[in-house]
Amino acid sequence: MEITTAAGMRVWSADQRAAGRRIGFVPTMGYLHEGHLRLVDAARAVSDVVVMSIFVNPLQFGPTEDLTRYPRDLPRDRALAAGRHVDVLFLPDAATMYPPGSDTRVVPGPAAGWWEGEVRPGHFAGVLTVVAKLFHLVMPDVSVFGQKDAQQAALIRQMVRDLDWPVALVVAPTTREADGLALSSRNSYLSGEERRQAVGVSAALRAAHELWRAGETAADRLEAAARVALQMYPGVRPEYIAVAEPDALAPAASAGAGCLMLIAVRVGSTRLIDNVIFGEGIP
Ligand code: PAF
Repeated sequence: MEITTAAGMRVWSADQRAAGRRIGFVPTMGYLHEGHLRLVDAARAVSDVVVMSIFVNPLQFGPTEDLTRYPRDLPRDRALAAGRHVDVLFLPDAATMYPPGSDTRVVPGPAAGWWEGEVRPGHFAGVLTVVAKLFHLVMPDVSVFGQKDAQQAALIRQMVRDLDWPVALVVAPTTREADGLALSSRNSYLSGEERRQAVGVSAALRAAHELWRAGETAADRLEAAARVALQMYPGVRPEYIAVAEPDALAPAASAGAGCLMLIAVRVGSTRLIDNVIFGEGIP
């Protein structure tokens, strides 16, 4: 079933709760791929009913970013969600999420100052604000996010903790193509040649992780290994490649197990991000 209004969403969720059902929630911006659908599977594994939202959130896009050309295909999304037995597709429009005069924003903590937050000012305030609003409307018991957006997941975890939200979070592993490329709706922007080059992102992370497994923990050497691997893919221009602490996401001089290597690149005009957790690696 589909719900488009805030009131409709609240009533449905209140009824489910009254019936003792556990609500799992997967927020998305649509243009679904297998990565999103695995988040649905993860939600279903720990819930009785699953809600997926599709809302391209204008608040998390900068003025020069890809809001207007962000890929959208609702008929295809409907079919994919139905194939994974999503119980409710929540499809609010911008006027529902941000009625005139809706000015309050969730201010993220210092972990938002690094990496994506530095390159995309205001991005994480936009993400946290929409996630907070969606949590209020859907009232989930558990919500599932993808590890590909590692900084987003860490900031949402902190928001839930800091604001005493009764929502359990699950961060599901990144889903990849056979050659290693992390699934992303933005992969649809890539030309054939750009797609071939884009595999350099996961190759760089794998090179760093292999060096780590061989005993190297110095962040500068791990970062250098990733940069060297990336040189094989001249179409990929790194924006940042960094070793970061697990929760605070501050730069780490040494990579202990659980630290991350975060990478952001441009391939043509497309911006891609990915990461690896030291000790877990890329499947
Ligand atoms: O990860 C995303 O798709 C978005 O940032 C989210 C969490 C749906 C908020 O708009």
